[in-house]
Amino acid sequence: MRQLPPEFFRTPYAFYEQLRAQGPVHQIQLRTGVRAWLIVDYDAAREALRNPTIRKDPHTDTGAGARREGAGESGVGAVNARLSYHLLNTDPPHHARLRKLVTPAFAPARIEALTPRVTAITDELLDRLAAAEGPVDLMDEFAFPLPITVICEMLGVPAADREQFKEWSAVVSDITLADPARMRVATDAIVAYFEDLLARCRAEGPGADLLSDLLTASEADDRLTDDEIISMAFLILIAGHETTVNLIGNTMLTLLADPPKYAALRENPEQVPALIEEMLRFEGPVNMATLRYTTVPTVIGETEIPAGELVLVALGSANHDEKRFDAPDAFDADRNTNGHLAFGHGIHYCLGAGLARLEARIAISRLLERYPDMRLAVDADDILWRESVLFRGVLDLPVETTK
Ligand code: HEM
Repeated sequence: MRQLPPEFFRTPYAFYEQLRAQGPVHQIQLRTGVRAWLIVDYDAAREALRNPTIRKDPHTDTGAGARREGAGESGVGAVNARLSYHLLNTDPPHHARLRKLVTPAFAPARIEALTPRVTAITDELLDRLAAAEGPVDLMDEFAFPLPITVICEMLGVPAADREQFKEWSAVVSDITLADPARMRVATDAIVAYFEDLLARCRAEGPGADLLSDLLTASEADDRLTDDEIISMAFLILIAGHETTVNLIGNTMLTLLADPPKYAALRENPEQVPALIEEMLRFEGPVNMATLRYTTVPTVIGETEIPAGELVLVALGSANHDEKRFDAPDAFDADRNTNGHLAFGHGIHYCLGAGLARLEARIAISRLLERYPDMRLAVDADDILWRESVLFRGVLDLPVETTK
């Protein structure tokens, strides 16, 4: 069985390439001891993501979602079980019912309408950078606060509570569960917080936010329980935050590590959307761990995976599959990126893809305009990557904002 090599988190692509040379499906052991089947080829990844017998919940075939204590993406008892009733834990037919209720909030026109607000939040954060003397950490000062502010506004979380959310989100996104007790405390606090927000929403009447939309939908048709609303808010908070942070961070690292590239983009800002799309393929924020379980023995490629096994679909490897993309390890903003899997595939395809693209487009365009001379404050090789199998991104991104 393959173990992840220590240098994996810095450069996973060489490891993925070696695996692909040996076949599309591999049995691996994570450093936590968890055993899984890793799918590394593009075609096999799409096949697995569309296969109706490879599901989110290994224990039911009703689609009712994970109902056992502590179940969740990590499958470990540290997460408050009341947060487990969400889209990413749910299979058909329940998945479709939940997804239908949240889809309107993410409709293209609703997302496009957020442009002025996202731009204002971006500019406010960029104003603050100007006040800094010496190097600043672009992750802490910009890439983290932007998406969390947008998500909190969407959910209707008051501004005063956002710092608290940032902290919870950091604890909860540690899928390695290095500190299960902390995870439990944070997820208990999140449940209590959303319960309270929901109660206030009920007492004061719905506002123009997503939580109110969910509440109104559930009261009209009695279709969503409080646990489902709270779980959905929790998923949107986590999924909408940690990923976009890393898209912004990975993009800025790629650009600043190659100053002529940054300069060229400054001259041609209309190329930002294509560059972000290639960035999603090249260094997607969800690189390895999209999780599923086999519910029956299932053949992927030529490998039979027994029933009840954990399956990890390595989107980052699929997006670097030489059988699908020419010279896949080269960053080329002019290439055709159609069909990349950075946002997944099939029924769980990312609900927030449009929002993530909008935020990244505005973030990078405004950075280029406001800080044309930005440069890395350390050698690119000294930048540390997060040791996470879930999110691909850097720990810090120290930059100088002026020449
Ligand atoms: C699902 C990636 C941003 C909300 C997914 C999945 C991926 C993904 C790969 C599928 C997971 C699976 O199949 O197991 C990303 C990336 C993002 C991003 C790379 C940023 C660059 C967002 C944002 C939001 C969001 C901004 C919301 C505000 C969701 C939700 C799901 C999801 C709710 C579950 C959909 C379902 O199960 O039907 N995302 N995401 N994501 N994403 Fe995103």
